Amino acid sequence: MKLVTGNSNRPLAESVAKYLELPLTDCEVKRFADNEIFVEIQENVRGEDVFVLQSTSYPANDNLMELLIICDALKRSSARRITAVIPYFGYARQDRKSASRTPISAKLVANLITEAGANRVLTLDLHAEQIQGFFDIPTDNLFSAPVMVRDIRDRHDLEKVMIVSPDVGGVKRARNVASRIGANLAIVDKRRPRAGVSEVMNIIGDVEGQTCILIDDIIDSGGTLINAAEALLNAGAKDVSAYITHGVLSENASARIAASKLNELVVTDSILATPEVSSAPNIRKLSIASLIGEAVARTASEQSVSSLLD
Ligand code: R5P
Repeated sequence: MKLVTGNSNRPLAESVAKYLELPLTDCEVKRFADNEIFVEIQENVRGEDVFVLQSTSYPANDNLMELLIICDALKRSSARRITAVIPYFGYARQDRKSASRTPISAKLVANLITEAGANRVLTLDLHAEQIQGFFDIPTDNLFSAPVMVRDIRDRHDLEKVMIVSPDVGGVKRARNVASRIGANLAIVDKRRPRAGVSEVMNIIGDVEGQTCILIDDIIDSGGTLINAAEALLNAGAKDVSAYITHGVLSENASARIAASKLNELVVTDSILATPEVSSAPNIRKLSIASLIGEAVARTASEQSVSSLLD
């Protein structure tokens, strides 16, 4: 087997390579003067089972094009099987027609990845699980919940913890974490009057005196979390932390989190942290390298990956 990476998250690729005790395959991914992407696989991959690790995070379009072009290069180099390992699948929030005459970009991206030559997809905490059905190739959607739960157990007194979903859409994800640690669940009734703006309407559940832990798949502007944290504290919560899989953290989100009432925000390394995120005093990283590495190893040896979700 071979492990190839684009430029989106080399540190994660290196950690996965270390877990697998496998060197990263030499692969040049560079730009022409007009920013077109050029890829050259610098090792023989004929007949190999190749895993391409690339998150389609910021800059989303460049990272997506790198993934597509790497897959195309591998296909034309006679790789036996190509698995696109996409820890953060960008465009996932465009998974339905949100209004008349709008695209379903998640489906388009799934088509592009398949057309580029991927035979399988391995991803993590898809924004909506049904996006798996947008691919007509086998797609494994891993959950970061087991990694988060281990960390929550190590750092919190579970007797006083209440798991909170920051919106109704995230209840299933939050309930999964709550049931693993035997905690109660509260729900924030969030509304989005327009894109990028969120408002808290109500808190469902009694959070008085509780250590509230918000669980979500994505933090982007930070608005959802910051508003939820304030509403929970106003409702009597003792303190509020958050565990979020994908730290998109665009623009000045990390500064907003630093200035917020959140005790701590924990994000995985599915997306490479910017220097601002890395230096934020209340943002901590949790690695999913061993989860991805184990899933890659099991895929390569045709073993079940479902036990990784337990
Ligand atoms: C929404 O359904 C997602 O799960 C996140 O809650 C959302 O993307 C977070 O965005 P922001 O941080 O910009 O409020």
